[in-house]
Amino acid sequence: MLDDIATQGRADAWLRAAVHNGDRIMGFGHRVYKTDDPRSLFLRDVARQLGGPLVDFAEQVERTAVGVLTELKPGRQLYTNVEFFAGVVMHTCGIPRDMFTPTFASGRTIGWATHVMEQAADNRLIRPAARYVGRPPPQQVPAR
Ligand SMILES: CC(C)(COP(=O)(O)OP(=O)(O)OC[C@H]1O[C@@H](n2cnc3c(N)ncnc32)[C@H](O)[C@@H]1OP(=O)(O)O)[C@@H](O)C(=O)NCCC(=O)NCCS
Repeated sequence: MLDDIATQGRADAWLRAAVHNGDRIMGFGHRVYKTDDPRSLFLRDVARQLGGPLVDFAEQVERTAVGVLTELKPGRQLYTNVEFFAGVVMHTCGIPRDMFTPTFASGRTIGWATHVMEQAADNRLIRPAARYVGRPPPQQVPAR
């Protein structure tokens, strides 16, 4: 997205057009955080420490996007999520783009493994907020 905005030249026009088209601006909004995502603030600080033209550009796009979303989606509380500066930091560290997702995922394996261990420890079900829309389950055969 940042590459595309840089090629087109004007962040404000690019972002407005995306929202008017019904597209979602990547790296903004979160299912739970209706304020700044704390991980995003942390990664923005890391990005600032690394420095460089992409970091400056990303901060400019972030300010513009938050302004556009506040204006065009009032009351939705859409701010930067963890993905936005994660991409900037990984790029600035020299990680190739096709390695972004595996790199991001490898950092999360500790949390994923911990969830498995917590569940196994007291066998409490994890109930994700999801709705099943597949085929209905097979009917039970009555016991004879
Ligand atoms: C993360 C996400 C799925 C959270 O969704 P959510 O809290 O369920 O938000 P909703 O789907 O209820 O959206 C609420 C409103 O804000 C809008 N909205 C949410 N995120 C938006 C975004 N990034 N850009 C533009 N509009 C957005 C929705 O279109 C919706 O508008 P409406 O009320 O006019 O229909 C969503 O913000 C998103 O798709 N973000 C972009 C993708 C992204 O960055 N994903 C990584 C997340 S860690």
